[in-house]
Amino acid sequence: MKITVSAIKADVGSYSGHHMPHPDLLKSANESLAKAKGSLLIDYHVAHCGDDINLIMTHTRGVGNKDVHKLAFDTFMTATQIAKKLKLYGAGQDLLKTAFSGNIKGMGPGVAEMEFEERPSEPIVVFAADKTSPGAWNFPFYKMFADPFNTAGLIIEPKIHEGFTFEVHDIMESKRIDFSCPTELYDLLAFISSPGRYVIKHIYRNPDREISAVSSTDKLSLIAGHYVGKDDPVCIVRTQSGFPAQGEVLEAFAFPNLVPGWNRGSHWGPMMPCAFEDSHPSRFDGPPRVIALGFQLNEGKLVGPVDLFRDKSFDLTRQDALKVADYMRRHGIFEPHRLPQDEMEYTAMPGIMAKCKSRFKPI
Ligand code: F6R
Ligand code: MG
Ligand code: MG
Repeated sequence: MKITVSAIKADVGSYSGHHMPHPDLLKSANESLAKAKGSLLIDYHVAHCGDDINLIMTHTRGVGNKDVHKLAFDTFMTATQIAKKLKLYGAGQDLLKTAFSGNIKGMGPGVAEMEFEERPSEPIVVFAADKTSPGAWNFPFYKMFADPFNTAGLIIEPKIHEGFTFEVHDIMESKRIDFSCPTELYDLLAFISSPGRYVIKHIYRNPDREISAVSSTDKLSLIAGHYVGKDDPVCIVRTQSGFPAQGEVLEAFAFPNLVPGWNRGSHWGPMMPCAFEDSHPSRFDGPPRVIALGFQLNEGKLVGPVDLFRDKSFDLTRQDALKVADYMRRHGIFEPHRLPQDEMEYTAMPGIMAKCKSRFKPI
């Protein structure tokens, strides 16, 4: 049976400030999806990371299905109404449109979906991040699917020894390109090492093009034309037997690489893997977090989630992340902690420049 896994996420209000969704929002999202279980949906799970709500849904309607997207949109609209009543912070902030028009893409929420024939045993991991942006998965995706120093299976497991093909999106010019690795590894890295523009959308296994991973690439400011909120991303990865082992997939997060998105979407910070209960950033609105939800699929039913980053073996990574966070913070408003002027989500520069312009003298 072909199963579709859809992960659709949005920040539709949080408390206090941009910290976490209120329990009433999560309750309403659960109720909304529960009504669709058994008809439109096979199963669902409502997760949250930071101030974002993640709707993880399984069904047989395929990718980009209108009814599934409408269900997600309506779920976020209802949660928005509750957020508004409670005067939560940023109520409805990621919903850029108030009427559904066929596909939730381009309406604000982030979308990652994949369809595949369920294997005899189908482990998947859904990753959700907060205080970062699409492109944050480039580094870990490269580690999982192209770096044999991370994924030993690329060398010693015949099923993945042929490597993977990466579909990269140029999110500025809405174009896509495929790179087959390991053959085109250096070309791939030339692009994905600039994650603000080139974002890995899909990964397919060579040579049968079996879908292996998918990420959300929706960038709110590019849709709205100005800063409206944080496009914290989500992704889905298939693991084991024919894919990187789950441990190889998680190992990609053992190094807390720097990502953009901390405080006002304008600072670099380490992406810290953490347990579900620790996924609500507060220091300087951060540092950025990532959670890993492990599921087994059973005829589309979601068995799980398991809190995969709760493992003590990530404690040192967290310690490193906290040290790096502290080191970065000491730069204050200076780059490279703060993003370059033209990449910041917030800037007062046009006003300051207008005020100071006439005072500039030739040197
Ligand atoms: C939100 C985020 C925060 C906000 C900051 C300012 O996810 O990253 O760092 O950007 O708290 O928020 P506003 O402008 O809403 O006061
Ligand atoms: Mg928020
Ligand atoms: Mg967020």
